[in-house]
Amino acid sequence: MERRAQLPGAQLHARDARRRRRAVLPLQHRRARRRRARDHRRRGVSGRDAVRRDVGLLRPEEPPRAPALGPRRRRVRPQAQAHDQPRRTEGARRRAGRGFRADPPRQPPVRAAGERGAVEVHPVPGIEAPVSDAKRLAGEKAIEFVEDGMVVGVGTGSTVAFFIDALGRIRDRIRGAVSSSEQSTQRLRALGIDVLDLNATGPLPLYVDGADECDPHRRLIKGGGAALTREKIIAEASTRFVCIVDPAKRVDVLGRFPLPVEVIPMARSLVGREIVRLTGGQPVWREGVVTDNGNWVLDVHNLSIVDPVAMEAQLNQVPGVVAVGLFARRAADVVIVGGEPPLVLR
Ligand code: 5RP
Repeated sequence: MERRAQLPGAQLHARDARRRRRAVLPLQHRRARRRRARDHRRRGVSGRDAVRRDVGLLRPEEPPRAPALGPRRRRVRPQAQAHDQPRRTEGARRRAGRGFRADPPRQPPVRAAGERGAVEVHPVPGIEAPVSDAKRLAGEKAIEFVEDGMVVGVGTGSTVAFFIDALGRIRDRIRGAVSSSEQSTQRLRALGIDVLDLNATGPLPLYVDGADECDPHRRLIKGGGAALTREKIIAEASTRFVCIVDPAKRVDVLGRFPLPVEVIPMARSLVGREIVRLTGGQPVWREGVVTDNGNWVLDVHNLSIVDPVAMEAQLNQVPGVVAVGLFARRAADVVIVGGEPPLVLR
């Protein structure tokens, strides 16, 4: 006790920390630790730097891999994968900053459909100004398709947010809107636009929505904002579907963006296994996200969808699948690609 009282604070702290370490570390770990520390001292680097350098050395030139699989590609059962995949995706994102060549995710992290922040509206954190400008230009161009007295179908997402804002400026010319998510509903109402029930309106003349990917035949992947089921319903109910995208969404073959599939919660594992069997893709459970319909979302990675109509039909057959984020059977009628000037593809 006396000696303890004489020790200066820093030394006292160091001694206590050493004792605590000894108490928890088995002998062989302590030896390994001492050996490593000796090596590091010889090399003249601190323990922390040495570890970082070792990690870098382990994987200096790894071949590109799917972001979903992360660094240690291993065979996992779909159910297990659905649980641990998100963490590995996070890891891949962190490594992206250190020369890891995984494709960067195009979407900001999604929390829950319809919840504010599920798909951030502008200004979009993490989305560079040119992308945001392209989305705005696409959204504003779509206003040209709105006619007086229309009830307009409205999608979900950051591009659609620009369309909603523009719609707010002409709100006296329209009868109202049918919304595809709680998030869009809030934005529409905040601008004084009536949100109507699809059952009451009947077929709609126009639906405007964004997309995560768009191929040359105007077939789409959608659902990055987890609103795919209601979006599909409104697209189906509409005579004209105008899709608004920024140029980065254009692809030759769909599938680089993980395909969202909304599932009934109890069917998550079953659907995951069937997706692996039918498509060869890797389903990843979007953990923590609940759709506006109370369901869950699987994102299917590593697909190259050469026949989107067939895949959409096939996945729609799996019991427990509520909706597949492929808009191929009912593709967009018009695609507006944001830019100066915007490109209108029909
Ligand atoms: C939401 C969607 C969105 O339209 C899609 O994710 C595109 O979003 P953004 O316009 O924010 O890029 O399908 O379910």
